[in-house]
Amino acid sequence: MNNTEFSQSVILVVDDNPTNLKVLCGAIAASGWEILVATDGESAIEQAEYAHPDLILLDIMMPGIDGFETCQRLKANPDTNDIPILFMTALSDTVDKVRGLSIGAVDYITKPFQTEEVLARVTVHLKLRDLTKKLELQNQELELRVQQRTTELADTLANLKESQLQTIKNEKMSIIGELVSGIAHEINNPLGFMTGNLELMNDYISDFHEHFKLYQQYYPEPNEHIINHAKKIDLEQTIEDINDFQLSMKIGLERICKISNSLRTFGHLDLFRKEHLDIHECIDSTCIILNHKIRSNKLRKEIQVIKKYEQLPYIECYPGEINQVFMNIITNAVEAFEEYEKNVNNIPEEPRENLLILSTGYNEEMTHVTISIKDNAGGIKPDLESKIFDHFFTTKSMEGNIGLGLSISQEVIQKKHKGNLKCVSLWGEGTEFIIELPIT
Ligand SMILES: Nc1ncnc2c1ncn2[C@@H]1O[C@H](COP(=O)(O)OP(=O)(O)OP(=O)(O)O)[C@@H](O)[C@H]1O
Ligand SMILES: [Mg+2]
Repeated sequence: MNNTEFSQSVILVVDDNPTNLKVLCGAIAASGWEILVATDGESAIEQAEYAHPDLILLDIMMPGIDGFETCQRLKANPDTNDIPILFMTALSDTVDKVRGLSIGAVDYITKPFQTEEVLARVTVHLKLRDLTKKLELQNQELELRVQQRTTELADTLANLKESQLQTIKNEKMSIIGELVSGIAHEINNPLGFMTGNLELMNDYISDFHEHFKLYQQYYPEPNEHIINHAKKIDLEQTIEDINDFQLSMKIGLERICKISNSLRTFGHLDLFRKEHLDIHECIDSTCIILNHKIRSNKLRKEIQVIKKYEQLPYIECYPGEINQVFMNIITNAVEAFEEYEKNVNNIPEEPRENLLILSTGYNEEMTHVTISIKDNAGGIKPDLESKIFDHFFTTKSMEGNIGLGLSISQEVIQKKHKGNLKCVSLWGEGTEFIIELPIT
């Protein structure tokens, strides 16, 4: 019988009896399988480790270690424990058969050998081994595919979460933008007529003043009622105060105008269109929006904002997003001061100022404008520095901090504006964020 199935198979026959070996080898060779022979347990183990046969026919009674011991050692060895073992026993040895099967053999053949039966059993076990191997392989592939799918799903979920949060942030920004522009628009009308009327009122007051001086000049001695009333209202002081009031009202209105303009700049959140922007205007308007945070509060002293601006060209960018970046980075600095003061509160230290230095300029090659936002709020722990741009990385326990400010800022600057965002921090000192935007 020439067995074409599993023709590559290698079978190790272990028997010390030359007659048995001869019979078995003859039958096996006729089937086309490759044969290895061992005449004792030790050399059988050695060959199995070395040649890794597909099946072992193992005699029980042998010189040296017997078949059971050989089987146990083969099963205990991870290199050989998957090789199917068929015991060769005498027909009457039921105890041996049971023992053999209980220590890991898959089957037995009985002596004297019936060639057909031997070949049939060997073929069945080769087939089983082949199927087991295929199953293992398929299992591995399946596991790999499940793993890949799980990773894909986890990635998709993370992307989804991120884009959801990004949408929420964008929406939040655009709602703030709308609100702010709405307020600026509403303020603008009354502001316009107050500014116009103040100018007119100043002219009228000067006219009154002049008229009054003429009275004093041509009627230097007024009657008693007028003198008493002048004393009562402290006329000289009133005239002086009116001048001061006029001046402070003018300054106040100018300031409101500036705030209103900043609100309009900041609120100009067209997320999908690039515009040529005055970067300084953007930084200033962000500072005005954050002014309430920059002033001193229960948690910390006032923050001194120092601006060092160089003359810059207009830069093409998405206004809403650039403002959002300035807002994220400046807010981080403000929050860092709060954290810093909380930590040093109990430690007496030299008097120091909270400084936020906003400076602009150019990179060495003059291809980019640079915007530096630098604080002296104690810096970032060296082991955390590499993580600050990661999504959802935050060291803050405050509600509302989700750890997205810097990752969004990096995306806005690097992906959307083809610029750079770097962080230089000195632990114990402070942090500097440097934004580079290409000059187009
Ligand atoms: N100027 C800074 N000084 C010290 N640490 C900073 C500074 N800026 C950022 N960090 C650190 O980087 C972390 C990540 O900042 P990021 O803006 O991404 O998130 P967040 O401020 O914690 O939360 P969110 O911005 O979503 O409100 C902060 O939690 C903080 O630990
Ligand atoms: Mg932040």
